[in-house]
Amino acid sequence: MDFKARLGKDAALPAMDEDIEKILLSAGDIQRRVEEIAARIAEDYLGKELTIVAVLDGALIFTADLLRRIPLPVKLDCVSVASYYGGTESSGEVRFDQLSLPDIAGRHVLIVDDILDSGLTLDAITAKLERECRPLSTRICVLLSKQKTRRKETVAHYVGFEIADEFVVGYGLDYQGRYRNLPHVAVLKEDVVRFGNFVSGS
Ligand code: XMP
Repeated sequence: MDFKARLGKDAALPAMDEDIEKILLSAGDIQRRVEEIAARIAEDYLGKELTIVAVLDGALIFTADLLRRIPLPVKLDCVSVASYYGGTESSGEVRFDQLSLPDIAGRHVLIVDDILDSGLTLDAITAKLERECRPLSTRICVLLSKQKTRRKETVAHYVGFEIADEFVVGYGLDYQGRYRNLPHVAVLKEDVVRFGNFVSGS
């Protein structure tokens, strides 16, 4: 019996889906694509020393799914950055939230992020890791890439889906800390974004 059924039909269940305008990518679409990307990565890095560097917090769920489908002895590290500070527009400034950088000297590095938007975040991360950590190579893998003119010419080698230039949530992506646990990628209702009218509760 599912969670809603167990609570009973009259229970006031905070329904995140009610805040959503449209589902862009279903959970099934995402899982199938993750499988394909993992297969390509496994082929490209066969026999190489690979470290995956996940960009927290947004890439957490994508990385967890991707990593478990790559049948190679990869290492995992994380970097923590902030550029949106809870809104829907990049602040244009990338802040590193951790003191120590990953130990990736002499290793091939695949930086995994949820979305390539303005390009500022991934450009800053790649530059910092290359400058301060001396990896053998760096590539970028993103679940989503927005079709737009970027502020930085960042190129992702592995892209799950090209999407229109609109703010999305789910599968790790948040709005004000919410919706990361949606299994799909979705666009929020305008009311939610403009006035903070969350149907799913405060
Ligand atoms: P930039 O603009 O630097 O953005 O390429 C990268 C980071 O910003 C966040 N981001 C989003 N988060 N919905 C979100 O929930 C979006 O549509 C969106 N666009 C950018 C994200 O954390 C990404 O790593």
